[in-house]
Amino acid sequence: MASYSRITGTGSYLPPRRVTNDDLARELAQRGIETSDQWIIERTGIRARHFAAPEVTSSDLAFEAARHALEAAGRQASEVDLIIVATSTPDMVFPSSAAILQNKLGVAGCPAFDVQAVCSGFVYALTVADAMIRTGTANCALVVGAEVFSRILDFNDRTTCVLFGDGAGAVVLEASETPGILASDLHADGKHVGILCVPGHVSGGQVTGTPFLHMDGQAVFKLAVRVLEEAARATLAKAGKTDADIDWLIPHQANIRIMEGTAKKLKLDREKLIVTVHEHGNTSAASIPLALDDAVRSGKVKKGDTVMLEGVGGGFTWGAVLLDM
Ligand code: UT7
Repeated sequence: MASYSRITGTGSYLPPRRVTNDDLARELAQRGIETSDQWIIERTGIRARHFAAPEVTSSDLAFEAARHALEAAGRQASEVDLIIVATSTPDMVFPSSAAILQNKLGVAGCPAFDVQAVCSGFVYALTVADAMIRTGTANCALVVGAEVFSRILDFNDRTTCVLFGDGAGAVVLEASETPGILASDLHADGKHVGILCVPGHVSGGQVTGTPFLHMDGQAVFKLAVRVLEEAARATLAKAGKTDADIDWLIPHQANIRIMEGTAKKLKLDREKLIVTVHEHGNTSAASIPLALDDAVRSGKVKKGDTVMLEGVGGGFTWGAVLLDM
């Protein structure tokens, strides 16, 4: 049984259609809805997001990200013995997007399942994969965050539709004798279900309730700022580390103000904060692995660096993973 699990490759994928704030403002203006590049940048830090073509699904984006991660790890899909996809916008009600991804990768047999923890999905999925590797249930896991949030946006609601985008990120997590994942800390509090949800469901052949994302932005903002600091501190304590040991902070990419606030509370220099929200928008479960891959490929995050990943989102869910690359 391996003592640890370690990330051996990262990958990501963004659908080609890049939509700037000005593009979106023009589209919304045709519906009589007013927004501006200035408002979106000032309140969120977002400049652009990517939207998938109508026929493209989460598993399509996951497939591209997984391919890149496998290539970076020097692994074949046939060597993977566990697939976990974190998504809140699965291809179908069932089966899981992980099972669909497995088939697209041309393999069969290994366990494949989805994790549904909205924007905390990737840190949840990584924690589950780490536990399965350390107990000997798996040796080489593919852990993916993939979303097509554009499908659940109400483009008549300017308070939410300007915030989100589509994309996927993936890592290969392998059994290792040297530390990779050092500690993690996961939480949920279901009493906050109403502040961030898509309350619709399928019943009797129809969608009942609304199939669009609803968010009380200010309530989410306040909770996020508090729990992100708590989760980071709890994870550091479990690993026997301090703020000073963090080389890079990769929080869920939702709002630059929340991210900078968290870095400040952890007494981290702004340069240690990985930021992709300006180009990706909020891609929910995909945001952390997308940002991680971006930072690895740009040469910022290097082998041996200590990285804090932090997710927060609907549920309400939150959590953190501290790891050595
Ligand atoms: O992924 C899960 C985690 N999600 C998050 O972390 C999101 C957390 N929340 C936020 O990031 C912020 O609360 C938002 C970015 C969603 C909103 O920023 P805010 O500073 O809390 O703005 P607000 O909701 O207080 O709205 C301020 C004003 C309002 O107008 P009035 O009432 O002051 O006249 C809104 O109607 O901005 C207006 N507004 C807009 N104006 C132009 C709201 N959306 C827009 C818009 N364009 N798109």
